[in-house]
Amino acid sequence: MPAEELSHEIEDDVDFWGFEKEGRLLGVMGIQDRGDVTLIRHAYVRSRSRKQGIGAALLLYLERLTEKPILVGTWKDASWAIAFYEKNGYILLSDEEKNRRLRKYWSIPERQIETSVVLANPKWAEARLGMKNKSTSICPEGKILGIGGSPRIHGNSDVLLKHMLSGVQQADVRAEGIQLRDIHFQPCIGCEKCRKDKRCTGINDGMHLLYPKITKSQGLILLSPTHNYNVTAWMKAFIDRLYCFYKFDDQRPRGWSSRLAGQKRKAVIVAVCEQKNKKDMGFTIEAMRLPLEALGYEIIEELRVFGIFDRGAVKKDDQMLAKAFNLGRRLAISLRS
Ligand SMILES: Cc1cc2nc3c(=O)[nH]c(=O)nc-3n(C[C@H](O)[C@H](O)[C@H](O)COP(=O)(O)O)c2cc1C
Repeated sequence: MPAEELSHEIEDDVDFWGFEKEGRLLGVMGIQDRGDVTLIRHAYVRSRSRKQGIGAALLLYLERLTEKPILVGTWKDASWAIAFYEKNGYILLSDEEKNRRLRKYWSIPERQIETSVVLANPKWAEARLGMKNKSTSICPEGKILGIGGSPRIHGNSDVLLKHMLSGVQQADVRAEGIQLRDIHFQPCIGCEKCRKDKRCTGINDGMHLLYPKITKSQGLILLSPTHNYNVTAWMKAFIDRLYCFYKFDDQRPRGWSSRLAGQKRKAVIVAVCEQKNKKDMGFTIEAMRLPLEALGYEIIEELRVFGIFDRGAVKKDDQMLAKAFNLGRRLAISLRS
């Protein structure tokens, strides 16, 4: 955006917020009060810093600055931007509604109205359309999300996850793999805000990219190398951040249930370690199995891979690669039953 336009927008009461890392500005997003609604304006993330949760972190931060319903406008052709807001719980307004809102809240030429869309957050939909808040509704689709917990790029977990996801796809089920090291996120801070808000509102970070993927995926693969007899710090932090899916009562100790339960969610878990002795894998499998079961997943199988140390060494083990492929395939097939 040219400096002149930026000054104009600031004068027009758009407050810009930035996401900085090591002194570099990686993303910006503006917020503008327009009376009965708040607008999100001018959201940009540097191209090299995309897909790290920076946009989601900024959006969540800005959402918490207002109690009002939020609208966001973007280009009709910007499918990636539309997908981003949809992932974050926003819904596209009908053409008629959009035209009315653009004329009321934005100062843009008529031509631009035609080429734009408007998305609204659940609070807006609830207030204007009498719709139930969908932000916490959960309806899994028959797809599978694979989560890798290794810090090592092209390591053994990466290789195994890739083969598992190929097996999933071979069974004609959609698959997506995420390496936690690529996501900018923190461990749970125990603020307990999720008890009231029914989603994680205590931390603004890349986990908010993963939450919709988790809720929408009926199948889940968790894969972690053993680090000191347990899952890696990435996998542990990820699992702790699933705390917001629990519903607790007011007893002490609190009774609980899971918002992911009763939806035929299925999972497989995989651990890989250097040593050949079962004892040296420690609690890696249990550290994934127990929390997933508590969240309402049926663990259909577990795979323990022993005796693999060097980066990507598992590639030489054709039998293990075939096992991983078939495990992914079986998880995919199990979703049909
Ligand atoms: C910090 C650290 C701790 C580890 N602790 C164990 C362990 O307790 N038991 C074991 O058998 N291997 C252990 N290993 C070895 C890894 O589990 C093994 O190299 C594995 O293949 C790494 O998988 P990756 O390539 O997916 O990262 C450790 C490795 C690291 C870096």
